[in-house]
Amino acid sequence: MSKTTIILEAGDEAAQVAIGRQLAEALGYRGIVYLNGELGAGKTTLARGVLRALGHDGAVKSPTYTLVEPYDLESGRVYHFDLYRLADPEELEFLGAREMFADNALALVEWPIRGEGWLPAADVVITLSLIQQGRRLVLEAGSDHGVQALQALAVASRAFS
Ligand SMILES: Nc1ncnc2c1ncn2[C@@H]1O[C@H](COP(=O)(O)OP(=O)(O)O)[C@@H](O)[C@H]1O
Ligand SMILES: [Mg+2]
Repeated sequence: MSKTTIILEAGDEAAQVAIGRQLAEALGYRGIVYLNGELGAGKTTLARGVLRALGHDGAVKSPTYTLVEPYDLESGRVYHFDLYRLADPEELEFLGAREMFADNALALVEWPIRGEGWLPAADVVITLSLIQQGRRLVLEAGSDHGVQALQALAVASRAFS
């Protein structure tokens, strides 16, 4: 696996959603994506873009208390995790998360650091931060599938690698 990192900037919320859409398509609607970044960094907004790509038109809220929200959509299944309130990574076992990650689905994980030691490795790790105008997204591949996805995304977004 070659090291692949791309950096994107989203000037506003609509751009953030658009990148989420392109990411979902680049991943072929499957894989594991970690979303790092502080509260307000735009993780859930990016997840909304991903969900839009798979055909979900409704609201998207971080599943802060339930830890995971499953979506069964036209183009596949998505599991949206928010592990901010996870006390112990082993709790993921009781949630049935093992089957969710084994499923041929797309898993989006906010606050993956809380699940460290239990979570399977990511195909793409995204770190979001605030910049003067919008958000910066640093996307790093963690597998061959992730490398291919980021190469496709770089073309789609005309980014530099
Ligand atoms: N690229 C962006 N530029 C400007 N505002 C953004 C951008 N992405 C998201 N936001 C806004 O930032 C706020 C927090 O976003 P959210 O996705 O809920 O963050 P998180 O899930 O990381 O806590 C929302 O009001 C959202 O509209
Ligand atoms: Mg959130």
